Amino acid sequence: MASNPPPIHEQWSSRFAFILAATGSAVGLGNIWKFPYITGENGGGAFVMVYLLCIVLIGVPIMMAETMMGRRGRQNPINTLKTLAAEAGASANWQYLGWLGVIAGFLILSFYSVIAGWSMAYVAKAFTGSFSGESAGVISQLFADLKASPKEQAFWHTVFIIATMSIVARGVSGGLEKSVRFLMPSLFFLLMLLVAYAMTTGSYMQGLEFLFKPDFSELTGAAVLTAMGHAFFTLSLGMGAIMVYGSYLPKDISIAKTAMIIAGADTAVALLAGMAIFPIVFANDLAVGSGPGLIFETLPIAFGNMTGGWLFGLLFFVLLVFAALSSAISLIEPAVAWCIERFNVSRKKASVIMGALVWVLGMGTVLSFNEWSEVTIFGANFFEAIDYLTANIMLPLGGFFIALFAGRVMLAKHSQDELEINNQLFSVWKFLVSYVAPAAVFIVFLNVLGVFGIFS
Ligand code: PHE
Repeated sequence: MASNPPPIHEQWSSRFAFILAATGSAVGLGNIWKFPYITGENGGGAFVMVYLLCIVLIGVPIMMAETMMGRRGRQNPINTLKTLAAEAGASANWQYLGWLGVIAGFLILSFYSVIAGWSMAYVAKAFTGSFSGESAGVISQLFADLKASPKEQAFWHTVFIIATMSIVARGVSGGLEKSVRFLMPSLFFLLMLLVAYAMTTGSYMQGLEFLFKPDFSELTGAAVLTAMGHAFFTLSLGMGAIMVYGSYLPKDISIAKTAMIIAGADTAVALLAGMAIFPIVFANDLAVGSGPGLIFETLPIAFGNMTGGWLFGLLFFVLLVFAALSSAISLIEPAVAWCIERFNVSRKKASVIMGALVWVLGMGTVLSFNEWSEVTIFGANFFEAIDYLTANIMLPLGGFFIALFAGRVMLAKHSQDELEINNQLFSVWKFLVSYVAPAAVFIVFLNVLGVFGIFS
């Protein structure tokens, strides 16, 4: 079975197409929904500094590693790892790393779809003019009502899963490339517009200070883990999504440059979202740490009170849904690709099966905001538990092993051949993936377990 020749994959039409698809995967709810609310919960500036440091020192090198491994292995992450391990004369157990990723993507999509569903609900609310001229109080109530309704959430969660799976059923390239090409610039434009609105609130400087002025006394060990976990989450790393996309990458493309472009665009979107949201939080006396509802309680205030707000609000939530879709596709693609190659079923059938399974699990998240809100595991409700397990444990763990594999298991000859960077840059990269990234993950894990007690 393992001796099958690697299937010949389809390929992206160009380097630009790969950048678009990978950016489509990276930029999503992580940037606009998750980054602001976890920044709010974790005290602001110092948390943001740790996050940025993780992007540069861990994120970019691991993104290069995943892309490179995907392009060399050319299959789903599990088989890619199997092939590359065999090539390097290493243990076949490395394939379990592929498993970890497939499962992580599956689990993440279950709650991702619910939040994307909230965004869809907000498209409908924007369309019917629900935000128009409303105060912060009314806007907060709108969100509270959505959160309290399992039916409304389940409806949109279902719509989102169907949308995602019908795209995945058709295969990765094609439509995706085209939609991201228009999506990213439009999203940038609307975020800038929101930042411009934030400047008129009178609390702009206070918002910027919260976001960029580090107060290290606010930083806990748990916050450092969350920042690091989010660096993986936001760049779609540690679970094979970028590895799958890398497997469609033509040979003649610079992996280092593309990784930096993608990480740069992703970071810019997150910071812009923060710069739009926090001034609105302060201007309306809202709580920075209000949790997963933060964007839904703040941005509608801006849309409800700016000129042209109806149109911009509608556009914004439509774009947010599309950004979530292009990420969702990459969350489930490893599982679908595996299902096809493993059971020899059609792409369509694999998509239906995976979609149904994710849907069921997602209902747990829907209920965690209402009926099951009191049901907790280690103090976390269903949504919080899956979020913590995936973003704070599985992705960093996946990243840890991917880094070690790329840096220490693969022959330098092979990785350098794929990366095609000069010797100096290659040594820097190799040092980062072999030592810095694994050590950072290890130390942050130990610290959270209370071994060092730094920032506790
Ligand atoms: N990066 C996506 C976001 O920020 C989420 C994601 C994580 C997508 C992991 C794929 C893999 O929204």
